[in-house]
Amino acid sequence: MSLNDEKFPNGFLWGAATSAHQVEGGQRNDWSEWEQSPARLADLERNGLLTKFGKENFISGIACDHSRRYVDDFRLAKELGHNTTRFSLEWSRIEREEGMFDETAIRHYHDVLQTARANGLEPFVTLWHWTNPLWFRDQGGWSNPRAPEQFARYVERVVTMLRESVRFWITLNEPEIVVASHLVGRFPPQRRSLFSYLHVTQNLLRAHRRAYRAIKQFHPSAQIGIAHNMNDFEAVGNNPLNHLLKRLADWWVNDYFFDRCADTQDFLGCNYYFHNRIDKRFNKNENLIRSDIGWEVFPDGLERVLLRLKKYRRPIYITENGIADAEDRLRPQFLVDSLSAVHRAIAQGADVRGYLHWSLLDNFEWDSGFWPRFGLIAVDRKTLQRTPRRSAFLFRDIILENGIPRGMLNTNKNST
Ligand code: FCB
Repeated sequence: MSLNDEKFPNGFLWGAATSAHQVEGGQRNDWSEWEQSPARLADLERNGLLTKFGKENFISGIACDHSRRYVDDFRLAKELGHNTTRFSLEWSRIEREEGMFDETAIRHYHDVLQTARANGLEPFVTLWHWTNPLWFRDQGGWSNPRAPEQFARYVERVVTMLRESVRFWITLNEPEIVVASHLVGRFPPQRRSLFSYLHVTQNLLRAHRRAYRAIKQFHPSAQIGIAHNMNDFEAVGNNPLNHLLKRLADWWVNDYFFDRCADTQDFLGCNYYFHNRIDKRFNKNENLIRSDIGWEVFPDGLERVLLRLKKYRRPIYITENGIADAEDRLRPQFLVDSLSAVHRAIAQGADVRGYLHWSLLDNFEWDSGFWPRFGLIAVDRKTLQRTPRRSAFLFRDIILENGIPRGMLNTNKNST
């Protein structure tokens, strides 16, 4: 791939990502059950969140009704210039009972893939984006020693049925975030245990490796990766403690998973949201620009995390990067700055071949519910009507140019 001054490499992939539980609607999995459980609702009540946001905010329910509206959604993505899309298959729909594969559900995804292709969108298909079938949960979920084998069996089935329409498979989305939740009990199964944290880490690694081998066996030309949550750790000054903490954090948070599956990845999926400044402790961030959800806005960190990935000598796709910004005040500049960071990383040798923004649509942001708005396209919660935000058109202009128009760098800075 060649890179001239302003442009991204030829054939660069541009698009946006979603996940099944967050957009499809009508789920019946470990998350949807947890959302409605008396313990969860009591917890929200205690924290005043039910009064603040309303119960419906916290129940995924119909979500964006994407499983019925995908034709329109993909058409809109095409109109907005996209040439790729990332979405996930819902394991709990495909294998509702253990070992019983629902052909109708697989056919549905077949149609979804055909529709994506018909709209000129190269699909990145995630096989597991955090949600689990109920039978899997009931057997211990990712703590069950059989979990990797159960996951690989599901993967084998869908890959044999869908391989014709897919080139890029993502086995796992951000396994380390789900694993960390086993330490703090934030997400289902809300366990707090160091043992389960370490055990689930190993099981997810095994699951990835088994899935990789299963895919390669039935679909040798497939490109396979993990979407990994990369953090930009920055040590302040010369204090050796800060540098030691940074090395430890990089090793555990950024490198551990990728290092252990270096030989079972054809590409690296990079999700980037977090910058972490270390000054004797973590998260000493002075930057006060925050998104609606309170996350620091720090696009420059994307350059550093991409450069960090160079050592694996694999193509890189940014599989998520985005901002909760209901008013679309920060997103336009965020896009320009993030893509400038990507461009700088490419100029320094990072083999980045695509950028998928999170997200195509406003959707169900896990335990926060619907209120954080990550979409390039706004979704009205009452009517479910889709309305592209200003940044969706700005993104389209960048895509059409396959580069960041010079004028945009300045004009946009003034307007936000
Ligand atoms: C990532 C998740 C994705 C979405 C974004 C905001 O960690 O992979 O599903 O929730 O955060």
